[in-house]
Amino acid sequence: MKVLARETWGSRVGFVAAAIGSAVGLGNIWMFPMRAGLYGGAAFLIPYLVLLFAVGVVALTVEWTLGRATKGGPIEAFEKTLPGGKYLGILVNVTILMIFAFYSLVLGWVIRYFIASLSGELTRIEPDKFFNALAFSREALLWLFVVIALTIAIVAMGVQRGIERANKIMMPLLFVLLIVLAVRSVTLPNAYEGLKFYLLPDLSKIASGKTWMIALSQMFFSLSVLGNTMVVYGSYLREEDDIPLSAIATAFGDTAVAVTAGFIVFPAVFSFGLEPTAGPGLVFVTLPMVFQKMPGGMIFSALFFLLLIFAGLSSTVSMLEVYVDSAITKLKISRKNASVLLGLLTFLVGAPSALYPAYFDWLINISTVYVGPLGALIAALALIKLGVDRAYEELQKGALIKVPELWKPWVKFLYPIVIVVIYISQFLLG
Ligand code: PFF
Ligand code: NA
Repeated sequence: MKVLARETWGSRVGFVAAAIGSAVGLGNIWMFPMRAGLYGGAAFLIPYLVLLFAVGVVALTVEWTLGRATKGGPIEAFEKTLPGGKYLGILVNVTILMIFAFYSLVLGWVIRYFIASLSGELTRIEPDKFFNALAFSREALLWLFVVIALTIAIVAMGVQRGIERANKIMMPLLFVLLIVLAVRSVTLPNAYEGLKFYLLPDLSKIASGKTWMIALSQMFFSLSVLGNTMVVYGSYLREEDDIPLSAIATAFGDTAVAVTAGFIVFPAVFSFGLEPTAGPGLVFVTLPMVFQKMPGGMIFSALFFLLLIFAGLSSTVSMLEVYVDSAITKLKISRKNASVLLGLLTFLVGAPSALYPAYFDWLINISTVYVGPLGALIAALALIKLGVDRAYEELQKGALIKVPELWKPWVKFLYPIVIVVIYISQFLLG
């Protein structure tokens, strides 16, 4: 029987654009400033950067190498390496479906805010009331559907024509918008108050274990290394494609966006005398208050939410792709049918989250806190079972830089231990 050849990336640049596209998302622009705001600004930024160098880059090499070596998504990769691997693969597929479901709700709010900025409506409303009326409502359900439909459209077109091309267009635009907004924010009156908060660490807070734990799970989520998306993206790599330098580029790009988002949010928030600790409402309530007071605010508001739409869609595409690929390879369904059917399934799973906040919280906690880090751990174990020597060889194929041999013991011992430690201490630290 002739099996259809697996799709691949068209170019190295296309792959890096898609990888950065997956990584950069609401995690960077909505969650990162929110957490940095809650955990002491620079006191959060510093642990985050330390962990990124220690764990983040390695995590990307682990998942891509595993994907390329096994030529499959998580089900394939774990089946080939671990006992009960098939079920572990199904588990991470379900996890990413749950992530896609709640993530789409938030991205739906973003689309609504973008429209309200364009129409000027956002100048007239009271942001907290607007947000509270929108967040969990029938209307939110509609926007959730729109997000899923857009994602289906891109995924249905395939790896090169859909995902790669969409990212090659969206990513450069995203960077331009980001710079424009950061320049606007840091040149506001009293912006330096925000810069101080963001750049001068309160040393007593850096010592807090909780801060490190939050920084770690934030980093895994932000880099999309939960044993699913990056394994699939790695499986589309060709032998001649580079892994290590791409990992550095992706980690750098993702972090640059998160850090820059902080430069957009904090100077603006402090300049208008607002609080950086608003949590989830920072982007949906506090920032709109800033835009209302700023000259030309609606233009910047529209740009900001457009930026979030690009960032978010390039991430949702990488989520849906995981189980669409599983359905194509395991159930032999066509890409179009798989995209539509699984997209609709996600809508059904996500719909209650648009109406019931408790369900929304449950989805987030299960998928990102309880199961997400396990996905990263399973991927690490799968690679170890494959053999770190063989994995190291795979990693070096097409590599544009030489990876130190230290990579092997790091992946075999330190990396999984770090994951287990974070995982356990999440619960101990509450
Ligand atoms: N990394 C994305 C973000 O920061 O918004 C979210 C994400 C995408 C998480 C894909 C996990 C994933 F598999
Ligand atoms: Na991210």
